[in-house]
Parts: sequence; C-alpha cells; structure tokens
Amino acid sequence: MDYSIYIADEYTMCRFGAKLMQSICNAENAKGTTIYLNGDLGAGKTTLTRGMIQSLGYQGNVKSPTYTLVEEYHLAQKNIYHFDLYRLSDPEELEFMGIRDYFNQDSICLIEWSEKGNGFLQEADLIINIDYFDDARQIHIMSQNSHGEQIIQQLKHT
Ligand SMILES: Nc1ncnc2c1ncn2[C@@H]1O[C@H](COP(=O)(O)OP(=O)(O)OP(=O)(O)O)[C@@H](O)[C@H]1O
Ligand SMILES: [Mg+2]
Repeated sequence: MDYSIYIADEYTMCRFGAKLMQSICNAENAKGTTIYLNGDLGAGKTTLTRGMIQSLGYQGNVKSPTYTLVEEYHLAQKNIYHFDLYRLSDPEELEFMGIRDYFNQDSICLIEWSEKGNGFLQEADLIINIDYFDDARQIHIMSQNSHGEQIIQQLKHT
C-alpha cells in the first residue's frame, strides 16, 4: 500500500508530521514502529521528524543528532529514537552501540540515512521518500508489512 502527498512548505511538513504520528498511535501495534526516512540533504527528513515529536508536546528543538547517532525522546508513554546515520562509517558500529535494544514494542524508531546501516537495522514498517519539488516537496510512503499498512489506512482516513 502507498500514500503520496504534496507538501507546500516547512509548516505543512510539520503538520503532516503530526498527522503521521497520530496515525502511528492509532494503528494497532504489538512490536513497535520503524520508519526509514529517505531523501537528499535538506529534503526535510528532520523537519518531518520535528513535526512528529513536537506533536506529542515536546517544546524543545528537534535537530539531527550529530555527535551521537541517536537522540531519544520519552513522550506520551512512548520511546522515540531519532537516528541520523549520515556520519556512520562502518555499520558494525551499530552492533557495538547495542542497536537491537532500540527496536522494541514501545519504540518508534525514525531513521535518516538508513542505507548506511544496511544489514544492522530492523526492517522498516514504512519507507518514506521525500523529493524536492522546487521549494515544495513530494512525499511518497510505502508500507512494508501489515503494521505499515495500518498506519497508511489511518493516514487515509483522518
Ligand atoms: N516544503 C518543505 N518541507 C520541508 N522543508 C522545507 C520545505 N521547503 C523548504 N524547506 C527547508 O528545507 C530544509 C530541510 O532541512 P532538514 O534538516 O529537515 O532536511 P534533512 O532531509 O533532514 O537533511 P539532512 O540529510 O542534511 O539531515 C529546512 O531548512 C526547511 O526550512
Ligand atoms: Mg536531517
């Protein structure tokens, strides 16, 4: 199943992040949620993540983790882990940081530059591609399993 949406500006990107988070929370979930965020530098992966996290009441700034690979947020009884693997030189580092423990039933893992962690990450429930469209963006979301499908169902009906 897939879902596409045109995003006119940064504000709309954040609003969509809120809607996506709502859909994740509404979807039935026994094993946590893993989302790969794909797109070129500056496409809006972190902006979308910020919209998702701030929609749960987080007031602080949400920026990509730079000196660590992951930033964590504990909000609304959820553990949200925002990964940015751009600077990861060897995917084995993920093994050393205990990456497997991050993927559990209470977690929402949002992963930028997931291709750098190839072979060491939980499979995605959703893959989100963000493409440049002049100043706007085009988002294309693809479900990878039934949990991902449920999230897209929620997106389509809210
Ligand atoms: N329609 C739009 N949606 C999202 N961001 C937009 C849009 N139009 C312009 N922008 C700008 O594009 C930039 C997106 O930056 P952001 O850090 O979210 O990208 P990123 O995909 O996380 O990049 P990186 O790969 O470097 O981490 C921001 O400066 C934002 O203001
Ligand atoms: Mg980013």
